[in-house]
Amino acid sequence: MPSLNASHKRPNYGIDAPNVVRGLFVGGSAALILGRLCLFAVKRGVMPWTRFAIAPCLSMGCILVLEAGVMFWGSKVGKLRLRDKLIATLPWRGDERVLDVGCGHGLMLIGAAKRLRGGKATGIDLWQKEDQAGNSREATWQNVLAEGVEDRVELHDGDARKLSFTDNFFDVVLSSWALHNIYDPAGREQAIREIVRVLKPGGHLVIVDIRHTAEYAQVLQAGQMKDVTRIGPNFIFVIPSYTLMATKPTPV
Ligand SMILES: C[S@@+](CC[C@H](N)C(=O)[O-])C[C@H]1O[C@@H](n2cnc3c(N)ncnc32)[C@H](O)[C@@H]1O
Repeated sequence: MPSLNASHKRPNYGIDAPNVVRGLFVGGSAALILGRLCLFAVKRGVMPWTRFAIAPCLSMGCILVLEAGVMFWGSKVGKLRLRDKLIATLPWRGDERVLDVGCGHGLMLIGAAKRLRGGKATGIDLWQKEDQAGNSREATWQNVLAEGVEDRVELHDGDARKLSFTDNFFDVVLSSWALHNIYDPAGREQAIREIVRVLKPGGHLVIVDIRHTAEYAQVLQAGQMKDVTRIGPNFIFVIPSYTLMATKPTPV
């Protein structure tokens, strides 16, 4: 874990899918500019046929720029609100061992750490920059310092498909918008099985994602998880996000 001094910076939980947000904004702006140019040309009597392009360019431009704006808001505001709501649904004692799988800048990790007094919140990630802008272990640790939870948090490099923890270790496992970044179904299934494996009997899991949540629910049900609930949709990233909650049964 990097040994950095206390930070006085505000936490920054990163922009998700930065290339998509940039693409939507640039594409939308280009369509708006083109639409305005066509309008200008028609008004001047130059290339009158461009009038057919005005409405499609302007409407498409507005849609794309709006989508980029919603995704940006989702990363900066929406996901923090949803995080707080989801964390509040769990029955905290304060001494839990918590795992955030694909923690990125520490969204769920830090939200959970704030609920702990004697437990530990562990974040693992591959820190892929295409999945979240400025993603790195050091950036996450800066957020941990900024939120004042460094005595309750550990960060590890790690892959969701092969968790380096023993069976039945964590009271709570969380994961937000991470697992869809595993592109093959077998890899996603393996990640869900790993989450179930490291969760203690009686432990709770919360997984939020924009894709494949029905598939995760099937794997959880096949893995004998109980109270598997899929909640949503939530449109903070335009594409609907769904939340899965489940509990690992205690042996009878
Ligand atoms: C969109 S970001 C979300 C980060 C954070 N959970 C949040 O909600 O802000 C997706 C994260 O999943 C991580 N990730 C992708 N594939 C992973 C894998 N196989 N194992 C662990 N982390 C992974 C990425 O590095 C990235 O940090």
